Amino acid sequence: MESLLELIRGRRSIRKFTPQEVPIQEIEELLEAARWAPSGGNAQPWQFVIVTERETVEALKMVSPGLFGEPPAIIVMCFNKDRIQSTSELHYVDLGAALQNLLLMAYAKGLGCCPIASFDAEAVAELLSLPSQIQPVLLVILGYPDEDPSPPPRLPLNKLIVERI
Ligand SMILES: Cc1cc2nc3c(=O)[nH]c(=O)nc-3n(C[C@H](O)[C@H](O)[C@H](O)COP(=O)(O)O)c2cc1C
Repeated sequence: MESLLELIRGRRSIRKFTPQEVPIQEIEELLEAARWAPSGGNAQPWQFVIVTERETVEALKMVSPGLFGEPPAIIVMCFNKDRIQSTSELHYVDLGAALQNLLLMAYAKGLGCCPIASFDAEAVAELLSLPSQIQPVLLVILGYPDEDPSPPPRLPLNKLIVERI
């Protein structure tokens, strides 16, 4: 348990990467962790698009104002609308759980990641020629870390807990 908490505390958002490519098997291991996340009604609404081609990464950057640096790979986390009735908040929670599994697995393997919400979903869908049932929700930039950022502060636990009345 100690080491799990250390892993959770030690993970950082990484935005600077070495130019080293990430082998596809490594990326698939991250998605293996993601697919074991819990989801409401076990809907498993996620679909992942792996982007490693340089030109496609550059094109994604052009439509993602919140994406900085030169990531060697990007995972586009999407809804597969064939598996869900609607894109309700519940399913965003599902994707969040899959995201955290992916981020922790990446950190445990010496990879760096950063979730990116600041992007144009329609432009990304068009650029990747995604079928209409696949809706991009979040980008995750990925590579070998070339920075070791300090942890951004967290609120203390006593501000987060409402005592039982
Ligand atoms: C849903 C979500 C969206 C995010 N979007 C962006 C983004 O567009 N650009 C960016 O640089 N970081 C983004 N981040 C990273 C956060 O800024 C980062 O997680 C936060 O500052 C805490 O830092 P840490 O991840 O190192 O603990 C996002 C994180 C999450 C969970």
